[in-house]
Amino acid sequence: MKEHIIQLLEQTVTILKEQQIIPADVQPRIAVDRTRDKAHGDLATNLAMMMAKPAKKNPRELAQLIIDNLPESDLISRTEIAGPGFINIFLNQNWLAQQIDIALADDNLSVQKTTAPDTVVVDLSSPNLAKEMHVGHLRSSIIGDSIARTLELLGHHVIRQNHVGDWGTQFGMLLAYMEEKRAENVEISMQLSDLEVFYRAAKGRFDESEDFAIRAREMVVMLQSGDEACNKLWKEFNDVSLAHCHDIYKRLNVKLTRDDVRGESFYNSDLHNVVAELEAQGLLTESNGAKCVFLDEFKNKDGDPLPVIIQKNGGGFLYATTDLAAMRYRQQTLNANRIMYFVDQRQALHFQQVFSVAQKAGFVKPETSLEHLGFGTMNGEDGRPFKTRSGGTVKLVDLLTEAEERAYTLVKAKNPNLAENELKHIARVVGISSVKYADLSKNRSSDYIFNFDSMLSFEGNTAPYLLYACTRVSSIFNKVDTATVAKLTTAKVQLNEDKEQELAGKLIQFNEIVHHVAKRATPNTLCTYLFELAGVFSSFYEACPILSTEDEAIKLSRLKLAQLTAKTLKQGLDLLGIETLERM
Ligand code: ARG
Repeated sequence: MKEHIIQLLEQTVTILKEQQIIPADVQPRIAVDRTRDKAHGDLATNLAMMMAKPAKKNPRELAQLIIDNLPESDLISRTEIAGPGFINIFLNQNWLAQQIDIALADDNLSVQKTTAPDTVVVDLSSPNLAKEMHVGHLRSSIIGDSIARTLELLGHHVIRQNHVGDWGTQFGMLLAYMEEKRAENVEISMQLSDLEVFYRAAKGRFDESEDFAIRAREMVVMLQSGDEACNKLWKEFNDVSLAHCHDIYKRLNVKLTRDDVRGESFYNSDLHNVVAELEAQGLLTESNGAKCVFLDEFKNKDGDPLPVIIQKNGGGFLYATTDLAAMRYRQQTLNANRIMYFVDQRQALHFQQVFSVAQKAGFVKPETSLEHLGFGTMNGEDGRPFKTRSGGTVKLVDLLTEAEERAYTLVKAKNPNLAENELKHIARVVGISSVKYADLSKNRSSDYIFNFDSMLSFEGNTAPYLLYACTRVSSIFNKVDTATVAKLTTAKVQLNEDKEQELAGKLIQFNEIVHHVAKRATPNTLCTYLFELAGVFSSFYEACPILSTEDEAIKLSRLKLAQLTAKTLKQGLDLLGIETLERM
């Protein structure tokens, strides 16, 4: 809608340039905004005010010339000049009504598929397998998942990559501990049921016993040189750890499978090639025995170039080396033309550096878009990174379990007569979606304070509010007979009342919002939209009775508006990876 109006204004600018009213060399960035007050039209633009100076005209005078030269269109019913030179645009309500009919008849709710699909690699979740997933991995998993879903809806080819940390020195310690326990005939699978405890015990042994530490270091070397027994133990460990992750993905409704796992170990055999290629291109410099790439664009406080270490003194590789290999793989094997990293904002410098090295070395094509979509920290009430009472990291499983338990208590209090299994189901959906929505609705790049009470509230921009709104809309249809529902496909929407028009205007924004989210990776824009939509629906429903309306045409029209609202809310929540409920 907005885009259509922008196009019309672009055409107008071209016409005015031909008439030499606007100088040919100015390229205005045309902005069209929604008005707050419907009395001032649906949309407004400041184009005349922006162009007044280059056109050497009074803004109101130029506004009139713009209006006079605006191409004919079904979209606009009338325009007016306001204040210092704003142009207010009133949309054609018949056209708007038709758009609702069209969206309802379309499986994709009029969300336009792309004509030029990208191959997008989405790097998401990517926990370290040595430990259990903690709250820090929540953001990467759910934001990445939501963007992957959105891109898919638009017809892009999405390849999810779970870049798990399954390699490195910690594994020596873990394997040595597994070996020791096995020698003591202790059942390992039981031990691994709590990876956190297992990790701490292994670390304890490492710190207390020199012999153990030596064995741990030996095992790293053995693992890297492909020793069979060692690799078997390593696989066993990772298998259990990955199973923990996938239990969580399932609970979180995050679309990730074992096939999406391409951990650090996957690139191990390729790391020498990365070094060799950088060497061959003359990009490597030796510094204190380490092989580094110096990039002019990254300097330390003293103005000296900062090195990106590729290989340590002694031969070890680094996190950056693996990321370079991964970028090559994503470009050359997966053929990506957009690579999106959903990783903590604190890794921003790392990504700037590896992107720069990869581009210099030609590991990725110049036109491939490399995007680090960083996110802030989840903090506790004290504004510091979220911790348990005793100061430990919070395991993601524990957080989800607590959310479900709290939701159970709340739902039961509201609805004491629900059967136990239904209660459990509702509590699970409400609990998990509250955690997810609280996170997704925040601006990605800022930190936020985690608070169970506010995320589980039925008021405000929360999951329970939206889930409840969904059940309210669907409940209308429970009271409509099938004969009436059957008439909806042929009935036509009519927008006579303000509130009907407002709802229709909101509904047809969905396309624009989804495209925006796909471009900028900002699920919070979608959350805000859904929250507003639910609000607009609610005031429509108050002002415009549906079931008690005598006039059948109006009743059907309003039912169609309700139907599109229900579908849009459901589709929107699905893009966020949030399940909806029939009742709650
Ligand atoms: N495993 C890392 C961590 O937990 C995140 C990896 C992100 N992805 C990447 N390609 N570096 O911090």
